Amino acid sequence: MTLPFSPINAAADSPIYRQIYLRIRQSIADGVLRPGDRVPSVRGLASELNLARGTVESAYQLLIGEGYLIARGPAGTVVSPQIRLPEPAGQAVVVPETVPSLTHTGLMPLPLEMGLPALDVFPRTVWNRLAAREMRQSGLHDLIYPDSQGYAPLRAAIAGYLGVSRGVACSPDQVFICAGYRASLNLICHGVLRHGDTGWFEDPGYLIARRFLIEAGMTLLPVPVDDDGLDVEAGIKMAANARFAVVTPSHQSPLGVSLSLSRRHALLDWARAGDRWIIEDDYDGEFRYRGRPLPALKSLDTAGSGRVLYTGTFSKVLAPGLRLSYLVVPQEQVVRFAETAGRMQNQCPRLLQATLARFIEEGAFARHIRKMRSIYADRRTTLADALSAALEPRAQLRMQAGGMHLLAMLDNGSDDGAIAMRARSLGLSVQALSAWYAEATSRRGLLIGFTNVRSSQEASALSRTLASAL
Ligand SMILES: Cc1ncc(COP(=O)(O)O)c(C=O)c1O
Repeated sequence: MTLPFSPINAAADSPIYRQIYLRIRQSIADGVLRPGDRVPSVRGLASELNLARGTVESAYQLLIGEGYLIARGPAGTVVSPQIRLPEPAGQAVVVPETVPSLTHTGLMPLPLEMGLPALDVFPRTVWNRLAAREMRQSGLHDLIYPDSQGYAPLRAAIAGYLGVSRGVACSPDQVFICAGYRASLNLICHGVLRHGDTGWFEDPGYLIARRFLIEAGMTLLPVPVDDDGLDVEAGIKMAANARFAVVTPSHQSPLGVSLSLSRRHALLDWARAGDRWIIEDDYDGEFRYRGRPLPALKSLDTAGSGRVLYTGTFSKVLAPGLRLSYLVVPQEQVVRFAETAGRMQNQCPRLLQATLARFIEEGAFARHIRKMRSIYADRRTTLADALSAALEPRAQLRMQAGGMHLLAMLDNGSDDGAIAMRARSLGLSVQALSAWYAEATSRRGLLIGFTNVRSSQEASALSRTLASAL
């Protein structure tokens, strides 16, 4: 064990052996060293701190004499298992939960949680096999600093996938691997935005990104969303000179509508008319149950003067625990972003990136998405049927063409926040739609995840419980 030692001060009044004695005693009192923990050997600590062995020996003898440590011969020296630690002075810190569980809490989700992929169908066997192979085959290149843009074969695999599946033609050097959507946004903030820049943000919109951008110093203007997606006209009226717009064109988060073709063109025209950026968040565009998946907005971006910064994530198509996402920038911006990424360094472990690269190259990713599409189509209708039976007419179910959650609309007078809290006390995790609005004139409804509801019995039981929260 390495002890949390500050440097030994040879000039201090207290002799060195006593400084060591006090620090170990303090570590035990603070609970950093627990009863039964092994402390470094005399020789190890002496060499680590560049001291004579006798000095460390004296400190240990004192601690043993006072009952803090026990010498166990070849088994080493340990903190006495009998030691009675004082109660910690203050109360344990409780971090308040500002948003009722939003899949980003580190806790296992409750039923109906939105935004999570089906955890029971994660392709564990293939994934483990590929990860083990990567681990076995690792060499010197695993030990050096990684490519700040991300692991090159993964960038190539993503470029290949996006070209075929999302209509985004890009080269691997346009792809930057990031540790989740917020890391992609962070790279954009450092790459092309300035503190205090104003941007359009969908209202309702993905509240985690909204909070992140505000914290990063951006001023966000809530732009309304209707059945055709972001109201571009309204955005232009509000702030024609904004520097950026954040949009979810394939499947608006959280309403589920798609940005119409005419609005896509209007948005691109607006961005091209100035030094403006469109941040396209294509977080779950792969999942569409009616018609074909819509190509990404990025596919309409002009080569040579691109304005779309395209972001995607593996959180929805694989698992959020991987913390892997990507950003695709226009060719002309590659140098600028590469410099920024170089300053920030890549935060994604190479082993994970390499495993994912093989997963895509070997075709397992495409197979997985196909499988998920069909499982989600089933789970979606199963839960929708059960919810309609249990909730209507108090709530109206809205079935959008894609995505991973359902929307149950409530009367404008309903308190969806209170209903979500009541559902939570009954062991369910649904989101209040009003919480996703920045403006007070919000619509009311419940956002309900269907991806982890595995059978019609489960769907009926959960729907009945939710009905009792209404
Ligand atoms: C709208 C939206 N965008 C992006 C993401 C992806 O976030 P991350 O990559 O941090 O998991 C999510 C995940 O919940 C989301 O809901």
